Order: sequence, then structure tokens, then C-alpha cells
Amino acid sequence: MQITTEQRSQIEASIRDKYRKVASSAAGLFRYPTGQAGLDGQGYAPQWLKHLPPAVRECFCGVGNPFSMGLPAKGQAVLDVGCGCGVDTLVAAGLVGETGRAVGVEMSTDMLATARLNAQAAGAENVEFAEGSAERLPFEGASFDLLISSGVYNLVIDKQAALTEAFRVLKPGGSIQIADQMLTGPAPMSPGDAVASWFT
Ligand SMILES: C[S@@+](CC[C@H](N)C(=O)[O-])C[C@H]1O[C@@H](n2cnc3c(N)ncnc32)[C@H](O)[C@@H]1O
Repeated sequence: MQITTEQRSQIEASIRDKYRKVASSAAGLFRYPTGQAGLDGQGYAPQWLKHLPPAVRECFCGVGNPFSMGLPAKGQAVLDVGCGCGVDTLVAAGLVGETGRAVGVEMSTDMLATARLNAQAAGAENVEFAEGSAERLPFEGASFDLLISSGVYNLVIDKQAALTEAFRVLKPGGSIQIADQMLTGPAPMSPGDAVASWFT
């Protein structure tokens, strides 16, 4: 779908605006359970979460569980695209252990600030967060063994560019485990309708 520069700015502004609010609290801002209720409903194992204080878990607003498709191995490098406040990044950091690393990338500076505070609260040292877009990942090629993401690619404007980037930053033989939402009804009739309904 072709959208104008103005429409792109409109979508990006609406994403930043929504996640500025979510960075303080996700409660009541989504149509699905968030926080601990979301983690329980999506089958996150208690042992993956034991290093995360309750306030960190409450930020979670993922739509599905990328770890349900397989767990990263000790020592691996994991990238969490659209990491939000970093819950999945911190779960990955715990799973890969001290010899591995987990990196979260996020376009909202507000979510990124919360993610960095959450990493401190969790005492995680093998975690980094970077500002950037899924459409243009700020990493060298072949940097990661596993790319995870939850609830992000449905918001990305240029999905083809984002998937090209995902494959670029993966090492040969690396894996992608994405949880996301899909439109099952009729698609919007025009780019204008699509922009207006980006969050519905
Ligand atoms: C539904 S939240 C999920 C956050 C996190 N993955 C989680 O599970 O809690 C979607 C996140 O994607 C981010 N996002 C949206 N478009 C993005 C893009 N093009 N590049 C990077 N992050 C993006 C938003 O800022 C938001 O933090």
C-alpha cells in the first residue's frame, strides 16, 4: 500500500503518542490482558520471570509468547524488535545466561527509558537497549542467533523492509520467532482508511 510522507508521519506520531502513555502504565490501554495477567495467559513459565520484580512484569503488553516456539540456548545473542519496556528482552537475557546477550530495539524513547529502568530493577547485566526502527535496524549484519518480537510488525509501516532487515541482522542459520496480530476482516479500502484505523 502506498502512503504519503504526511500519512507516515501521522502513523509514527500516533504510535509515539500511544506508547508515551503505555510507558507509565499499560493498564486499561489494550483490548487484551497486559502485565502479569498477560504473561500468565500467554503461558510464560514462572522460572523465566523470577528475576523480574512485579512492577517490571506489569509493563508487559505483548500479544503472544515468542518463547512458545522455542527457547534460546545459553550463550546466544537475541534481538527483541519493538521491545517496549523490555520484558521479553529480560526473559531472553535470563535464558541465554551470562555468556549470552539480549538486545532490545524500540522506536519510542519513552518505552526505551522504562526498559532501561527495568533492566536495572532486574539486575540484568547482559542486556542492552537501542533506539531504532524495525525498518532500519541499527546493527551490523549477522549479529544475532535469534530474533523475537511481540505485537510490533502489525504496527510497522513498511513490513517488507522490516523483514529484509530481520534477515540481514540474523547469523546464517538463525531463527525468527514472532508473535503478532493479523487482520481477519476486509482490508481498509484506501490508504486514508488504513491510516485512520492503524490501531483498530
Ligand atoms: C504492543 S507493544 C509490545 C511491546 C513489547 N514487545 C512487549 O511485548 O511488551 C508494541 C511496541 O512496538 C513498538 N514499535 C512500533 N513500531 C515500531 C517500529 N517500526 N520499530 C520499532 N518499534 C516499534 C512500539 O513503540 C511499542 O513499544
